[in-house]
Amino acid sequence: MIAATDYEAQLLSLPKSEFEIAKTDVQYLVNCAYQISAFAGLHPVDAELTVGKELSRLARLSRQRQPSVDVLSYEDMILTNPLQSDPRVYCLGSAGVEERDFCLGHQYIESELQSAMDALLELRDSAEADARQCLAVCVERLESANCVLARFFECMSPDLFGQFRVFYGKNPYKDRLGPSGRFSARIVAVSVLLIGEELFHQKPQFYRDVFRLSEYYPQRCIHEVFRWLSPDKESAELQPRWLNGKADFPKFATISPVMERHGSEIRKLRASCVSALDRFTQLHRRTALKYTIEPGRPIVGVEAAESIESVLSQRLLRAVDQS
Ligand code: HEM
Repeated sequence: MIAATDYEAQLLSLPKSEFEIAKTDVQYLVNCAYQISAFAGLHPVDAELTVGKELSRLARLSRQRQPSVDVLSYEDMILTNPLQSDPRVYCLGSAGVEERDFCLGHQYIESELQSAMDALLELRDSAEADARQCLAVCVERLESANCVLARFFECMSPDLFGQFRVFYGKNPYKDRLGPSGRFSARIVAVSVLLIGEELFHQKPQFYRDVFRLSEYYPQRCIHEVFRWLSPDKESAELQPRWLNGKADFPKFATISPVMERHGSEIRKLRASCVSALDRFTQLHRRTALKYTIEPGRPIVGVEAAESIESVLSQRLLRAVDQS
């Protein structure tokens, strides 16, 4: 590669939106080189040579400008991939179209989750918020996310899914997790805002995992969630004291304190939001089983020591007080 330093300077001076796409491209190419090396059965040393020094350096620099894990991330493939105008996908033909739609569906659900999150934040943080309006927006956006997921479940071709899924596997040469929906920080944010305290009592492992695996999530959003959860301004890198039973759960991170000030109509609306989120998680579990687990396709976002079933039900509550 000629004049590598020029590429470095160009990469670092790009405006934010263009830089994010360039970072996606760099990580996408690095991932491609590793995956192809693995298909060819290359030794790790040869796999590094396939990636090459220049591309590795660009990848390192792009991660310095926008901190993220050192493999292809969920943020790279879903959030900063220009899917509408110029999609970055691995497959050609009908598998490429299905792959683009798979990523677009995730992107669409992410934007619905962002709207649900904004409405819940307004309810939690603004004294003048109209509780009915905020919760109505939240339930509407979650139901819309459910509709998109239902279309995946019913319409996505298992065969085409299998063709592009191989490129989203764990990096075969690094002990790292892959770009999984598990690392949607907005799902975490909405779950914390809506059912954060119940989750802590019933599924504390959910929180342990989010802190332990924090580097895989989009950093800005997950650190915002950590700030809510660290009222004493403990380091967002560390597991907070409440997670070890040494302090009370910071319920002000959630909408629960606001709910206590309202009557049954608002509580019913909150219950509708909880039910919509719950149905999303149930349907998602069935989708993961249908397309990935049952056909034996690679698991990308679960460590060997974890159980896939417990990850897929990590945000499901036994019974929430929905009254
Ligand atoms: C449509 C097809 C989908 C399939 C086949 C699928 C498959 C999977 C699988 C197999 C896992 C386990 C970890 C892994 O190997 O990645 C997982 C986890 C997860 N995925 Fe998906 N997924 C799909 C769509 C989505 C969407 C649209 C979202 C939303 C952003 C999402 C969010 C999650 C979350 C949050 C987890 C962790 C478990 C949980 O908290 O519910 N997934 N998915």
